[in-house]
Amino acid sequence: MNQKTLHSVDLFSGAGLLGYAFRKQGFFAKLAVEADARAAQTFKENVGADRMTVDVRAIVKGINCDVIVAGPPCQGFSSLGKRDASDERNELSLCIADWAKACKPSVVLVENVPLFLESQHFVMLKSKMKKMGYESTEWVLNAADFGAAQRRVRAFIVFSKIGIPSKPDPTVKKHRTVRSVFRGLSLEPDDTGMHVAPKPSKLALDRFKLIPEGGDKRDVMNASPETCPPSWRRIGNQATDVWGRMQYDNPSNTLRCSFQNASKGRYVHPTENRVLTLREGARIQGIPDRWKFHGDRSSIARQIGNGVPIPLGNAVAQAIRQLF
Ligand SMILES: C[S@@+](CC[C@H](N)C(=O)[O-])C[C@H]1O[C@@H](n2cnc3c(N)ncnc32)[C@H](O)[C@@H]1O
Repeated sequence: MNQKTLHSVDLFSGAGLLGYAFRKQGFFAKLAVEADARAAQTFKENVGADRMTVDVRAIVKGINCDVIVAGPPCQGFSSLGKRDASDERNELSLCIADWAKACKPSVVLVENVPLFLESQHFVMLKSKMKKMGYESTEWVLNAADFGAAQRRVRAFIVFSKIGIPSKPDPTVKKHRTVRSVFRGLSLEPDDTGMHVAPKPSKLALDRFKLIPEGGDKRDVMNASPETCPPSWRRIGNQATDVWGRMQYDNPSNTLRCSFQNASKGRYVHPTENRVLTLREGARIQGIPDRWKFHGDRSSIARQIGNGVPIPLGNAVAQAIRQLF
């Protein structure tokens, strides 16, 4: 590997979890593009870029780079979203080809949910990239296999003019656990260093007390049916992560933007009667404690949950770095 300085353009940069992984591999961001001002500020502070703009639909000309890194919004492709082919956010993924035309990178990396690979937008993007001379490969990787304490499966598409990199091999034999990444954090949030969680209402607290480690809303439905809203029954008693309590000795499930809302997933602390703190969420995403975040609590939760777990980003960035 030669040591020449490499440059990136980071589209949909978010708070910069994926960008940080590339930065550690020696890619300096000439430009980062992010619509959310607070996420952009977090990126600027912890990853850094020569220049920042706000909308990927406004292509900036005259910036050449080695790599484009792009993590477009996934809601329109996700099984949790409505999977709406007409979701206008899906169109944003097509801008990536326009940026490739403008910046002439050797490699373009696109990250999204695996269902993106089944979308018309992916077919269109791939066809546009092929016309520009890029060959491509697709990887579906689980963050837990790369040292994150989180099962999160994501698709990565590498478009390249300089060869196809090898798919990253798992870096751990045994998955990291929630317990191992929470080490050193007090059980009671101390409200410093982002170790802060919303105070549960009386109803939420009563429910938390009925949910054992690994349990979920079904435990509340069994023990105290009168406190459960009818909607819980309508969507069935089948396996669901709603009001789920994490397990200390396993990786967590996918951490999403709403991870401080118990009704959105498996976000209750393994032993405490509360949802995760921002710091616990950041640890599950592999974000260093020294990172400085901008925005209020819900904005920070969104920035954390939106990102690519850094250990997974590291493996992908390393595989791409080998090409140069
Ligand atoms: C999935 S997140 C990217 C996360 C990032 N890759 C990381 O690892 O931290 C997608 C981001 O796209 C941003 N976004 C949405 N529409 C945009 C637009 N038109 N221009 C620029 N950014 C946009 C959102 O604000 C969000 O932060």
